[in-house]
Amino acid sequence: MDSKELLEKLEQKNKQALAGGGAKRIAKQHEAGKLTARERIDKLLDKGTFIELDRFKAHRCTDFGMEKDKALGDGVVTGHGLVHGRQVFVFAQDFTVFGGSLSLAHAEKICKVMDMAMTVGAPVIGLSDSGGARIQEGVMSLAGYADIFLKNVMASGVVPQITAIMGPSAGGAVYSPALTDWIFMVEGTSHMFITGPEVIKSVTREVVTKEDLGGAMAHNSVSGVAHFASPNDAACMERIRELMSFLPSNNMEDPPRLDTGDDPMRRDEALREVVPADPNRPYDIREIIRSNMDSNYFFEVHEHWAKNIVVGFGRMDGMPVGVIANQPNFMAGCLDINASIKGARFVRFCDAFNIPLIIYEDVPGFLPGTQQEHGGIIRNGAKLIYAFCEATVPRITVITRKAYGGAYCVMSSKHIRGDYNVAYPTAEIAVMGADGAVNIIFRDEIKKAEDAQAERKRLVADYREKFANPYKAAELGYIDDVIDPADTRPVIIQALRMLKTKRDTNPPKKHGNIPL
Ligand code: HXC
Repeated sequence: MDSKELLEKLEQKNKQALAGGGAKRIAKQHEAGKLTARERIDKLLDKGTFIELDRFKAHRCTDFGMEKDKALGDGVVTGHGLVHGRQVFVFAQDFTVFGGSLSLAHAEKICKVMDMAMTVGAPVIGLSDSGGARIQEGVMSLAGYADIFLKNVMASGVVPQITAIMGPSAGGAVYSPALTDWIFMVEGTSHMFITGPEVIKSVTREVVTKEDLGGAMAHNSVSGVAHFASPNDAACMERIRELMSFLPSNNMEDPPRLDTGDDPMRRDEALREVVPADPNRPYDIREIIRSNMDSNYFFEVHEHWAKNIVVGFGRMDGMPVGVIANQPNFMAGCLDINASIKGARFVRFCDAFNIPLIIYEDVPGFLPGTQQEHGGIIRNGAKLIYAFCEATVPRITVITRKAYGGAYCVMSSKHIRGDYNVAYPTAEIAVMGADGAVNIIFRDEIKKAEDAQAERKRLVADYREKFANPYKAAELGYIDDVIDPADTRPVIIQALRMLKTKRDTNPPKKHGNIPL
């Protein structure tokens, strides 16, 4: 062949690979409201930066006539490119080719980009749209899944791993996404489940739609499996790009600083009015979080699940920070099983990737009840304690109101290596709320009193005066300062600057044993 013929052959091969499953299947994909794998990559990466790998790779299956049924690329588009000018690796399953099902060759392509990502220290973004294990390949396909699981675990805490579920994800196929750091879903078109509605019906007779079982909102608001829900594929890609802007490329880097132009010393006198004088009145902690952030911008994650705790990212003085905050607007901000799990996972992610933590505390305690006790609040609440205790990133805590009981210890208190802890004048730092405390310690006095009601009221006022304030803790050095709420932003930023060179370590060990 001369060079012209060679180039023609290359062009023909490229055309074949780029055609995916063909025009008919691509049209079907579009009709379903979904983009193709290549269109998704195009929206995810900076324009024109995608470099494809393994475009001509094909499966090696010889059963069921598969040797005659090959598609270049084998149902997954892999490669690398840039997001906000920074290197990432990407794989996008192509549902138009064998339903995006995973063959061993398909798995090898994914493993190759994961290996490269680990070698250069760059995030991996997987776009999942797949019928699961390639049925014709049997155990070869299962081997491919297992290879990916191992790489997911080895990469965990080394490079950020992000998955977007953009179609079906069934059976064991859900577990690679579950091993990654963040799961995005698309409303109406993405579904995740171990067993689908048909199997459930035949085994338990339960009837459920796939949307109710494993749709975007089911996993964003009920199971907590997913962290983000987007209305369509394009919005989902945009959201991933936004998350990426807060993350370092790997665990050896600091998160990317971005000068927002917002005055670091900006005060906000409106913050003096946010926390109500009545300790039982709710307020939205996000008002305080937003006020303190650069450009008042807070990127909330895991927004629809365990709303009694708020987590997310923002920038302060240009530095990305992770926020974890009790939310008095929902269940009075108490800690329950789900809030503990949500908080613990977020703390561990930030700690793994050098993102300082800002903690806002207003928590009446752990949620009482048999449901919580029998559901394992002891084991699950311990996760949050464990996560804070082991975290070595800078940690700054602002107690806005209640810091009661065990929850005082848990929410990054100084005793568990909180670096800089301050309180508003409205803070109440005590073993428990005044009503509960008086009922226990003055039971006899109240019983004996002529006017029990009046005596109770007097004792509650007395207790509040003595304990429901930040000054006892300040006297003991358990908080570093009591601040004017208007100064919260400058106070946090000065602490962040002071802690910039923080170095702290944990004892050498194989790994700890977080109560799972
Ligand atoms: C091979 C598959 C496939 C699979 C789909 N296809 N799933 N090919 N292996 N697992 C093919 C179809 O034959 C079809 O080919 C094309 O993909 C599109 O599929 P449709 O069924 O036409 O699409 P749709 O109606 O949208 O339904 C999508 C679906 C359904 C819900 C995903 O295809 C389905 O239920 N597939 C099987 C799912 C499954 O049970 N997977 C195994 C899970 S167990 P043509 O040529 O007609 O376009 C598992 C174990 C992993 O994954 C273990 C890891 C630990």
